[in-house]
Amino acid sequence: PSSELERAESLIAAVPDHPSPGIVFRDLTPLFADAEAFATVVDAIAAPFAGRFDVVAGLEARGFLLAGAVALRTGTAVVPIRKAGKLPRETVAESYELEYGSATIEVHREDVPPGARVLIVDDVLATGGTLAAALRIGERLEWEVVGCGVILELDHLAGRSALGSEVVSLFRA
Ligand code: PRP
Ligand code: HPA
Repeated sequence: PSSELERAESLIAAVPDHPSPGIVFRDLTPLFADAEAFATVVDAIAAPFAGRFDVVAGLEARGFLLAGAVALRTGTAVVPIRKAGKLPRETVAESYELEYGSATIEVHREDVPPGARVLIVDDVLATGGTLAAALRIGERLEWEVVGCGVILELDHLAGRSALGSEVVSLFRA
């Protein structure tokens, strides 16, 4: 990896026992708070998919920070995949289990046309439940999902094996 990527990785904080005992929470806010590191990870997430997508779909909440930036840097559109109950028009929703708790996410049915080439982005791949639900939504909406890009993949949770899509992670922990 480039020295800029190595520096970006070094900014990720490991927080023991958050949000509950036994969980080591990887906090990416110091990386996002560093202008150079942020630009580096945004470009590195887009690079493997260059020219292959027209829409970036970002997962609430931390995926939003990435999705808007990736879209602007690549001249593509951005779409929010939101926690249930926030979007005002007709949605397609999917539920999933998290490393801690469960949740439902949804997308406006009409924001992205069928056949659109979509890159899905998030900050962290943990169990893969969130991205798997996003992929199910993409399937139901007939998106052509070109892949998923995340900054950090938590290897011990094997989330990647739950996903039938190209997944690119910049860092592993
Ligand atoms: C975190 C993270 C991913 C997801 C990864 O978000 O930002 O979206 O969990 O976990 P998984 O691979 O086990 O599904 P969270 O649901 O905590 O929401 P937030 O971004 O709104 O804090
Ligand atoms: N960090 C950030 N997001 C997460 C984590 C984590 O360790 N686990 C599940 N989502």
